[in-house]
Amino acid sequence: MSYLVKNYNRKKISFKYGKGSFLYSNDGKKYLDFIQGIAVNSLGHANPKLVKAINQQSKKLWHVSNAFLIPEGEKLAKKLVNKTFADFVMFQNSGAEATEAAIKTARRYFYSIGKPNKNRILCVKNSFHGRTLATIYASGSKKMTEGFGPKVNGFDHFEFGNHKSLKNKITKNTAAIMVETIMGEGGIKVIPDWCLKELRKICNKKKILLILDEVQCGIGRSGDFFAFEKSKIKPDIVPIAKGIGGGFPIGAVLMNKKVAAGMTIGTHGSTFGGNPLAMAVGNAVMDNISNKKFLNNVKNISEYFLLKLKQIKDKNPNVIKEIRGKGLLIGIQLHTDQANFINKLMENKLLTIRAAENVVRILPPLNVKKNEIDQAVKIIRKVCKEVN
Ligand SMILES: Cc1ncc(COP(=O)(O)O)c(C=O)c1O
Repeated sequence: MSYLVKNYNRKKISFKYGKGSFLYSNDGKKYLDFIQGIAVNSLGHANPKLVKAINQQSKKLWHVSNAFLIPEGEKLAKKLVNKTFADFVMFQNSGAEATEAAIKTARRYFYSIGKPNKNRILCVKNSFHGRTLATIYASGSKKMTEGFGPKVNGFDHFEFGNHKSLKNKITKNTAAIMVETIMGEGGIKVIPDWCLKELRKICNKKKILLILDEVQCGIGRSGDFFAFEKSKIKPDIVPIAKGIGGGFPIGAVLMNKKVAAGMTIGTHGSTFGGNPLAMAVGNAVMDNISNKKFLNNVKNISEYFLLKLKQIKDKNPNVIKEIRGKGLLIGIQLHTDQANFINKLMENKLLTIRAAENVVRILPPLNVKKNEIDQAVKIIRKVCKEVN
């Protein structure tokens, strides 16, 4: 008998401990974990540097209110600003809170410049920005909003890739366009760099803001610190979470100074957001991930992995429709429902997770080793043969 609410369809397996890319179950089995808490454990399980950071901080100070200065948070904010487009950072605890705060920041900017009617956010239909009331309506997906009315107003939608509809949906009330740079839950769909450039141009022309949700694809996951980096554009607002905490719940909104000016005293807050314990871990994650060498490794290993997966696809065209993704945010799109395939991978001790459009989502830790990729490739090849 479980007393947990039944809002998850949990696999009947639990884990005793994890180490790097591996999870060890309570019934004595060893799994190659290519979910990593859904792109959360960016440095794998029980990374010694993160263990050290949390241990040291836990002996000093866990939590103080944001009514006081928090030097650990100042430090992490400075690192994020130095590394990215951002001028300012606002810490939260999760991705949904970060995207919701990003929406608030966009609306507040237009309010602060005397245009309060510019408050609508244009999003991709069936995208994913979290599970709060506002963010489920931002997703434009019936599955997420059903039964949670009344509707939270203020969101418009266009189809992914439909540029005509995107342009048509911008009105005088539009405040911002908000998209995931790489759609995660929606099936690992990458917005190409030329599209990102167009998006920026459109936003400039219409004098609206560009919000890029990098909760899943950011913090090194794509092989660059941010997935939009190669396009050379600068968004106005970027919510992040997942990978920046390496397993500790951290969210943040990165923003330029133009929009940050609207977020004056009292406009937003979070009891836990940016507390010293979280910030100590965030700093350690940032120190490890943000350097060129680390990110080049992500790129190299991703290239190798994608090549191997494409070879498997070519041998199994009846099973695999497409290999998608960037960096270590990878999707194997099947021709049919992916549940059986994911279960078979799990029987072979490889953990992966679903995404929309029959996609098997693969999210190794960013410091995954080549021999671990080889191990996964072998299992995927075997399962392809079995289901073919
Ligand atoms: C792109 C994106 N935005 C927001 C969220 C919400 O994050 P959280 O589950 O931490 O609230 C997610 C979670 O999967 C996500 O992938």
